[in-house]
Amino acid sequence: MLRGFRPLATALLAGSALLLTMGAAAADAKRESFGTLADGRQVEAAVLGNKAGIRVKIMTLGAAIQSLLVPDRSGHAGDIVLGFDSAQEYVQNPSYFGATVGRFANRIAKGHFSLDGKTFTLATNDRGNHLHGGLKGFDKVLWSIDSVKSASPATAVFSYTSPDGEEGYPGTLHVTATYSLDDDATLRVEFKATTDKSTIVNISNHSYFNLSAETGASVLNHLLLVNASKYTPVDAGLIPTGELRAVQGTAFDFRKPTAIGARVRDGHDQQIRYGRGYDHNFALDGAAGKMRLAARIADPSSGRIMEIFTAAPGLQFYSGNFLDATISGKGGRVYREGDALVLEPQLFPDAPNQPGFPSARLDPGKTYVNTMEYRFSTDKPGRPAGVQ
Ligand code: GLA
Repeated sequence: MLRGFRPLATALLAGSALLLTMGAAAADAKRESFGTLADGRQVEAAVLGNKAGIRVKIMTLGAAIQSLLVPDRSGHAGDIVLGFDSAQEYVQNPSYFGATVGRFANRIAKGHFSLDGKTFTLATNDRGNHLHGGLKGFDKVLWSIDSVKSASPATAVFSYTSPDGEEGYPGTLHVTATYSLDDDATLRVEFKATTDKSTIVNISNHSYFNLSAETGASVLNHLLLVNASKYTPVDAGLIPTGELRAVQGTAFDFRKPTAIGARVRDGHDQQIRYGRGYDHNFALDGAAGKMRLAARIADPSSGRIMEIFTAAPGLQFYSGNFLDATISGKGGRVYREGDALVLEPQLFPDAPNQPGFPSARLDPGKTYVNTMEYRFSTDKPGRPAGVQ
């Protein structure tokens, strides 16, 4: 009934003691401290739980998903996102783990764009290009928690007001990030923004997923489906050339579930070489503006399945190629290539400089919206996550 999950109470009646460790007994939400930064600022978190035993913690630093506990096919809840145990470590090792990325997620060539004949210069932080909002993007600021509600769906609303000119962007931008978890095993993330001057916006979530949780199984064994028959090839600096290229017959064809590792080292494909694996935007099939399936990942080891639905036109698939064992994350675990993948529903990279791409423009009086849903299940359809 619940795409593989069923309420905790029912599962307990069925005799599964395993579920006792799974956390939330019913939809619930709370607010708690997430420690203090070295400069003395306090970080808070909202924790949302549901009857299926899913539990998500979002912290005010970067409005980032710090942990996401999801039951596997045996009912064991495991944390399926990379990150750190303390807020200060996020400051020391900025890698966008779980973060809200903006004002413009992804790259803008040379940090330049024009609007109504005026050229703007943004901070550059990625080989001369602008990436994920610049030197101090949304991932590095403290957001406020506006509300936390327990009713199903359990909901937390975060907000941040970016001052006019921040990182070079025009307009005061007021942004909200709403996280809601329903009892049907769906985590919904919705970004909204308004401005007082014409500007550009592209906000996404940058969670690094490994559906096997902390077991050490590589995401290269995850089966990935991406609902896209075209993608945007890039130059050596990972800036789109403007072309929309067919995935047919290439390492980018994920229209049927395919192991990520099957083609991630396909050096015959210059695009794979440029990305050091996958670091590309897919142009999703189906009309943008309507929620539709963007991607599905399935982990054969744990049985966890995650589907991502979005109304955005694009999906960046990054195979964690820059995880090079220089960072130790939760529990002191060293993060290496293959430890996670990132799937970011968003506009296309460098959209402000590509007239053929869907527009990133936001004008006063309009509201920017980017909604994504993460729907969880297991590979035992009809069987609850907690009972074998
Ligand atoms: C994005 C980019 C990658 C990389 C990561 C963060 O997904 O596309 O190239 O910069 O963020 O490491």
